[in-house]
Amino acid sequence: MGEVSDDNSNMSFLKRIATSDVPLLKEYGVNGVVIALLLAVVTPVLLSMMFGKKTKQRAVRADVGGEEGFAMRNSRFSSLVEVPWEGATTMAALFEMASKKYSRRRCLGMRKLIKREFVESSDGRKFEKLHLGEYEWDTYAEAFNRACNFASGLIKMGHDLDSHAAIFSDTRAEWIIAAQGCFRQNLTVVTIYASLGEDALVHSLNETQVSTLICDSNQLKKIPAISSKLQSLKHIIYIEDEPVEAETLNQVKHLTTLSFTEVEELGKTSHVDARLPSSSDTAVIMYVYKRSTDLPKGVMITHGNIVATTAAVMTIVPNLGMNDVYLAYLPLAHVFELAAETVMLASGTAIGYGSALTMTDTSNKIKKGTKGDVSVLNPTLMISVPAILDRIRDAVFKKVGEKGGLAKKLFDFAYKRNLAAIEGSWFGSWAPERMIWDNIIYKPIRAMLGGRVRFVLCGGAPLSSDTQRFMNICLGVPVGQGYGLTETCAGAAFTEWDDTSVGRVGPPLPCCYVKLVSWEEGGYRISDSPMPRGEVVVVGHSITKGYFNNEAKTNEVYKVDERGIRWFYTGDIGQFHPDGCLEIIDRKKDIVKLQHGEYVSLGKVESALATSNYVENIMVYADPFHNYCVALVVPAHQALEKWAQNSGINYKGFEELCQNDQAIKEVQQSLSKAAKVGRLEKFEVPAKIVLLPEPWTPESGLVTAALKLKREQIKTKFKDDLDKLYH
Ligand SMILES: *[C@@H]1O[C@H](CO)[C@@H](O)[C@H](O)[C@H]1NC(C)=O
Ligand SMILES: *[C@@H]1O[C@H](CO)[C@@H](O)[C@H](O)[C@H]1NC(C)=O
Repeated sequence: MGEVSDDNSNMSFLKRIATSDVPLLKEYGVNGVVIALLLAVVTPVLLSMMFGKKTKQRAVRADVGGEEGFAMRNSRFSSLVEVPWEGATTMAALFEMASKKYSRRRCLGMRKLIKREFVESSDGRKFEKLHLGEYEWDTYAEAFNRACNFASGLIKMGHDLDSHAAIFSDTRAEWIIAAQGCFRQNLTVVTIYASLGEDALVHSLNETQVSTLICDSNQLKKIPAISSKLQSLKHIIYIEDEPVEAETLNQVKHLTTLSFTEVEELGKTSHVDARLPSSSDTAVIMYVYKRSTDLPKGVMITHGNIVATTAAVMTIVPNLGMNDVYLAYLPLAHVFELAAETVMLASGTAIGYGSALTMTDTSNKIKKGTKGDVSVLNPTLMISVPAILDRIRDAVFKKVGEKGGLAKKLFDFAYKRNLAAIEGSWFGSWAPERMIWDNIIYKPIRAMLGGRVRFVLCGGAPLSSDTQRFMNICLGVPVGQGYGLTETCAGAAFTEWDDTSVGRVGPPLPCCYVKLVSWEEGGYRISDSPMPRGEVVVVGHSITKGYFNNEAKTNEVYKVDERGIRWFYTGDIGQFHPDGCLEIIDRKKDIVKLQHGEYVSLGKVESALATSNYVENIMVYADPFHNYCVALVVPAHQALEKWAQNSGINYKGFEELCQNDQAIKEVQQSLSKAAKVGRLEKFEVPAKIVLLPEPWTPESGLVTAALKLKREQIKTKFKDDLDKLYH
């Protein structure tokens, strides 16, 4: 990446000098220009000779068997890592050992609630506002004790050892304590997103025959309405994060119901011996949606899976340890957060709990004038999903834009200089200069996240390069991008902290091998040049057991090779860069087989067609019952209007222009040209198109916050248009 932008900036600098008007020549004389030209050419060459980074080889070929493919492993480890340290083979063992190792260090922290109030907005709606105080901490030894008590209490309460327990709660200390309590009795924990709909909730609890449900006060309210459908449910343990209404408890009185504290107390007074699990036992059945239309599927994650991912991630974050403070706020029912918190527990790091709604001083639920989670916690580590980082970026840019004037000019200038520095361009700021920018411009921005964040792990979806650079520059932190699925227990690939490139997800984590397998029909082959391409397949200690109670689906995506080793087929299409870093370039399900058997990769076609000047947004659609594809196009206003003016088209508004046959033809011709440049096959070029006047924004729900198309939503909204295109 660095080299490419180098060339670009040289080019534009030279172009500027070459095309600049006469005053420059007058001022400096022709010699001056020649010297400047020479300097412009020579300086970057010299600089890159002095500082040029040799590309680090981050992954190397691996010989791992299975289906033929292009396999890579992390170059730092010749064999796969399996455990963080000897003996830490299960979540229970890891936590017990950590609690001895770090016994008096801070472990789990929750903010004290000082006051809860409701304010009324002008339109009469009520909003909850919280005044939260300092963090109150359990040390490692205390947290471990609570988990032991919870485990004993759970059994004393009558939980049947052959059945499952489920956790249905926001992210908080009790979540980890309850989970660790279950692990100490070799109980499998079923996890469910707190935001899941009722049907999905009933389905997951019923499918796994859960007998004990551990929930927070908000989720408890949902139970009375569905408890008649939950035949296996016998016990409820509720966390009193908010006062629980007697009425709610009354409605579930046919079940044994205790508060979390009562269960801990019960366990404290009557100890039950631990029944520790082994590495291959299922620790968690994590319910995830594979497709928005299906019911969620339960991924069976073993203890060995989680500790392997943990061990691998611990090798990625530099100097991870007891001096770190981690802000926990993403759902623990997501494998990404569960793995991250396990990494923190294994490292002796303090985990402070917060939430997206109370994170900063200006967050929705924070009472005006009081402090958000980051200002009190001052975390050094965070994990995030792209949408949240995008939001932070937009907020900062908006604020700067509102200030305007000199402040904005200075911000823009410093941003450009620092961006150039990261990308290794000659225009880059130098170190002492960066200190000045840091102090006058970026310090206040950094304060938004508490001022001490030193590493952000980002996963869940692809992070845009703009946002990654924003984080690098304005927050001064490296962003590690992860790639993985629940089925690979989060871990598959991860960018290393010293890799400043964008758009890639790094080399395979040291707990697994990543292989590309040719997908002939889709046109992705490991023999492709310049890089091998194919479906991403993962094997290693982090590969989960499969879907609970769903052998058919399991056999579809987990394939066992001749040695009995399980490979997980991700359905994502990737390519390996020469340094061994993986880049995700497509999704198999975005590839459609036409009537005559040709495959259309929607993403590939869209990115080729998007190079047309007229395209602001485009979605290609292929109906498998026809032999051609079509496209919905949101045209670029200015470009199309300019063309209309020049061509003397009469139209009232942009909407009418989008209906104009000539305009449609013009855009279609431009798409054909783009297709030719992109070397698309004839059947890949949309045979018919519609022009849509309204832009697609995240607010409209048609694209994600990272501006990726939401195909299903777009398809539904423009169903009539699509139908017309096929008739
Ligand atoms: C619960 O699961 C059983 C099978 O285990 C099934 O027969 C029943 O219909 C399910 N109930 C609901 C409400 O999903
Ligand atoms: C843990 O529980 C599972 C399921 O009940 C059982 O198969 C396994 O043998 C148990 N593990 C140990 C170490 O007892």
